[in-house]
Amino acid sequence: MSHTNLSSTKSNQSCDIYSEKCKAPNWLQTCFPCFGPPLSLFSNVNGKLNISPQFKSQAGKEIVHRNDTFGGLLHDPLEEDITSILHTKIDLIPDDEYKELMNITSPFHINVETLIHVMQVMENSIKMGLDPTTQHKSDLKMIPTYVTTIATKREEGDILALDLGGTNFRTLLVKIRPQHDPVVISEAHIVPDSKKQNSQELFRFISDVLKLFMIRNKLDLNKKFILGFTFSFPCQQLALNRANFLYPTKGWGLQDLIDHDVVEKLQECLNEKQLNVRVTALINDTVGTLIACGYKVPSCKVGIILGTGTNACYFEDISKIQTITDTTVLPLEATQMIINTEWGALGDSGCLDFVVNEFDREVDKVSNNPGKQIFEKLIAGMYMGRLAAEVLAVLMNHGIILKAQRGHQESYRQYSPFWVLYNLQTSHISEIELDTGKTFANTRTVMNKLGLPQASDADCAIISYTCRLISRRAAMLTAAAIAVLMKRLRGSNKVCIGIDGSLYRYHPRFNMIIQRHLKTLAPVLLDYELHISSDGSGIGAAIVAITADQERQKLKKIALKPTVAC
Ligand code: GLC
Repeated sequence: MSHTNLSSTKSNQSCDIYSEKCKAPNWLQTCFPCFGPPLSLFSNVNGKLNISPQFKSQAGKEIVHRNDTFGGLLHDPLEEDITSILHTKIDLIPDDEYKELMNITSPFHINVETLIHVMQVMENSIKMGLDPTTQHKSDLKMIPTYVTTIATKREEGDILALDLGGTNFRTLLVKIRPQHDPVVISEAHIVPDSKKQNSQELFRFISDVLKLFMIRNKLDLNKKFILGFTFSFPCQQLALNRANFLYPTKGWGLQDLIDHDVVEKLQECLNEKQLNVRVTALINDTVGTLIACGYKVPSCKVGIILGTGTNACYFEDISKIQTITDTTVLPLEATQMIINTEWGALGDSGCLDFVVNEFDREVDKVSNNPGKQIFEKLIAGMYMGRLAAEVLAVLMNHGIILKAQRGHQESYRQYSPFWVLYNLQTSHISEIELDTGKTFANTRTVMNKLGLPQASDADCAIISYTCRLISRRAAMLTAAAIAVLMKRLRGSNKVCIGIDGSLYRYHPRFNMIIQRHLKTLAPVLLDYELHISSDGSGIGAAIVAITADQERQKLKKIALKPTVAC
């Protein structure tokens, strides 16, 4: 148990794994923690792989030669010179291998023009998603959340919250007092994979965990509590406390929950466990992040999650949201509403095919939702480790890395180091990218952990380069998407953007790369700042829950007021 307040940046998460391990049912579990076996990139297993014609850099540079002038690629002011890692020693990598390395990894080079193209595609999807006549054609669901303001700071109460769908499942007690930062008691738990399939089993499990949390914290079980539920999956919201589940993401099952009201289902299980708890609001984790950040910084207009999955929400003018069906549930004074973009689904229609490369396609193909959440798969922690493993496996297949480990085996597929690469997690990438010098200490540690102890200097340099390329592209794409949301905030001169998630928090370079690219892509006149909103999503749910309850009380009082006879 830990006690944190909103201003604390300390995380009490019990583990820092970025990707949830969705266990394969058989022996594959040992080798492939996240997916099934990697197959289709290797059409010619024993020989060299033929890179398909799509393997082109978005910067238009298919091959970058060491002695070339690089045709401007490395002189792009936004292009971080990460190839310097490959030159930590003279002649570290033989020329032909260097050339091949550049060829294989070139699809991960994207430039400003690519980002601008991504922005145009996203802007178009946003417009279509807000219009009921075109909504069905848009990759972006643009879900109205029915949250219309940030907190007034006059709220008061001890509120329960559940935060489900990220790296950990959290139970929280949030003590909210006027004009004070909330005081939070929270616990992090792991949801067993077996509970991620069926909604009733899941909600029974979390109700049990909540009951134990209440007992451990000596809460009076006879007293009535209200609860805010952060549920980090796409839901069609009909009111603050009515949300139909749309589809699972991030490797979860829950097919039985599709089209059902999540609040109702959770409430049923809470009642079954005889908990005197009423769910007054369900929100997405991005909304929780925005609201929690807004409690500290009132100019907060955007909430972003960069963790196992990725998504964003922002304040939109209600006049531009033509998809709200029932305006009677809105407070009279409301002019804006938070929209959950579900930006992870951008590209599902193929509109990002100009960025998606063969490695991305492989990751998508072996995931448990092929063709879905394409943007998320280019960026988020659940997929980044696997993406790097795909590239490293090709490099190994070409004899560019881990030659010593290969021995005299003819087929890499029969040799364990090849498979061991697939244990690479996004947390390892963050660790690798912490290396600054020429000794590659962290990269070696990761390789040791994976069971590849004899990585040479050249191996480490190439592995490090590959990780940087992949995470840099992810951060650049994130910057483009943030810039689009900033453009929608017309009328605001100064905005704060609240960000949370394990990838953002623990990756040593992600924030820096986003910031650097925002300098070019963000609207010129907008004064913006990015704020880390640590563990905000659960706190945000508690704040929304109490606001919703107080609105309800207000409405009740108005309804009960005796009419004054004239
Ligand atoms: C996935 C979910 C989305 C959530 C995000 C971050 O993209 O669909 O609702 O906000 O992950 O957790």
